[in-house]
Amino acid sequence: MESNRTEAKPKYQRVLLKLSGEALMGGQGFGVDPAMADRIAEEISELHTIGVQVAATVGGGNIIRGISVSEAGMDRVSGDYMGMLATVINALALQNALEKRSVFTRVQSAIEMKEIAEPFIRRRAIRHLEKGRVVIFAAGTGNPYFSTDTAAALRAMEIGADAIFKATKVDGIYDSDPMQNPSARQFDTLTYQEVLAKGLKVMDTTAVTLCMENGMPIIVFNLLRHGNIKDAVLGLNVGSVIQS
Ligand code: GTP
Repeated sequence: MESNRTEAKPKYQRVLLKLSGEALMGGQGFGVDPAMADRIAEEISELHTIGVQVAATVGGGNIIRGISVSEAGMDRVSGDYMGMLATVINALALQNALEKRSVFTRVQSAIEMKEIAEPFIRRRAIRHLEKGRVVIFAAGTGNPYFSTDTAAALRAMEIGADAIFKATKVDGIYDSDPMQNPSARQFDTLTYQEVLAKGLKVMDTTAVTLCMENGMPIIVFNLLRHGNIKDAVLGLNVGSVIQS
């Protein structure tokens, strides 16, 4: 019997999802909320179901932020390494949530810790993606002074992703803070130059510059709205797109 279901065809075949550590925190003040991790895993598994290759990087701000630690008087480099270790904790939490939903995953760490994660090996990460595994990149770039946004941009380029999907708590990029200003206007599309010139705090400037120089589109969307990420991957009008 012929099916009359129209199969949705993804616009993006391989994506790098950038999640903040806070996304995993949910309503808690600290750490990982298993219900939130499961919710994110559900969204990722939907992409997986439609055949999109998914890699992810997670921040560590729900546990520790290198910059805050250094502002409080600690050495910046030590703070950044502590932050990188926090991203490994989050990567393992996300891996666990995905595995509970029967999504195969591999965690690759930029700082070698063989007992708990594979080391980052670019070609191996690509093979995992080709085999349908979600690859979670942990420990940032492995270097202090680089944010997980920059790690996301770097890994997206290395694995040949079609776009970076930056998950946020709001619907996209606004001309002012929508939490403070109810008449803030959302952009559908904007250029890297506009993001930099307007000082829009969507990703740090190193990450935006890296994407600009390599023509990597950034799609900023609300992770908390169910089905958003799938719609964005299908090319529907969701969130804000940064491109040339
Ligand atoms: P294929 O070669 O495609 O079969 O990939 P694979 O990842 O299944 O191969 P492999 O036999 O290398 O890995 C089996 C399991 O061991 C996977 O869950 C990997 O994530 C894990 N693994 C591989 N290398 C390391 C490592 O260096 N450290 C840790 N902790 N796990 C690893």
